Amino acid sequence: MSIAVLERNTEMKEKVMPMMTEQLAGTAKISVKYLDLFYGEKQALHEISIDIEEKKATALIGPSGCGKSTFLRTLNRMNDLIDGVKINGNIIIDNENIYQSNDVIKLRTKVGMVFQKPNLFPMSIYDNVAYGPRAQGIKSKKELNQIVEESLRGAAIWDEVKDRLKSSALGLSGGQQQRVCIARTIAMRPEIILMDEPTSALDPISTLKVEELIEKLKKDYTIVIVTHNMQQAARMSDKTAFFLNGEIVEYDLTDNIFSNPKDQRTEDYVTGRFG
Ligand SMILES: Nc1ncnc2c1ncn2[C@@H]1O[C@H](COP(=O)(O)OP(=O)(O)O)[C@@H](O)[C@H]1O
Ligand SMILES: [Mg+2]
Repeated sequence: MSIAVLERNTEMKEKVMPMMTEQLAGTAKISVKYLDLFYGEKQALHEISIDIEEKKATALIGPSGCGKSTFLRTLNRMNDLIDGVKINGNIIIDNENIYQSNDVIKLRTKVGMVFQKPNLFPMSIYDNVAYGPRAQGIKSKKELNQIVEESLRGAAIWDEVKDRLKSSALGLSGGQQQRVCIARTIAMRPEIILMDEPTSALDPISTLKVEELIEKLKKDYTIVIVTHNMQQAARMSDKTAFFLNGEIVEYDLTDNIFSNPKDQRTEDYVTGRFG
């Protein structure tokens, strides 16, 4: 469906069904329709359609190679950087088709991303977090100090690093580094945060800390998280999408996916029978 048609439909709904629109409004932050993605000749995503809710955590699960990371990257156009990628379909974020806009920088500011391995720059903790805001042109020391503190507090790492802001970020433990990565993402004031297996390189205690942090973040941000840790998905997400061979087999409330799945393949996966 084209964006024009979508807009007309929305307009119609607003006139004809005000109550219904009210109920629907504000829930889907991201709306994906019939998304296909090809790496050259090879199709990695097939007709993905999914509405992702605002200020909730949505988990993407499924066996290795089923397209979770590929899908996540379509949400802030990170696949644009890969040669030979072709995409069909629509991704609407806040009523804007992100593949029809040319402002990828603005998109990536709004849709931040945290990767599997902490990828801090070889510079101080402070400079890592201030990097994005500085690149956006913020020069005032006072303002930068404030953003850095706010972001580190927001990422639940302020107390651990406040006395060593000028030390190298690479001297921190893996779990601390990952929380500084989250602070660096928050510093850009995103609305959506994508996370690709953010705890898979961490020890169990750091994993719990990052999970607690994500629980806290979803009050303010829309979180989409890829995880192959079933307990993690069950513990901290509101909705879960099960991917298999580049398709979404089932998408529902997390409780339903784990305790009452509709599709046999979902059940087999969440009970550990394959994957
Ligand atoms: N840059 C790439 N070029 C070509 N094929 C890729 C690329 N990245 C991923 N793929 C392929 O796309 C499929 C989905 O991969 P991926 O999204 O990484 O899966 P997951 O994150 O679920 O493990 C796999 O078959 C993988 O080999
Ligand atoms: Mg992956």
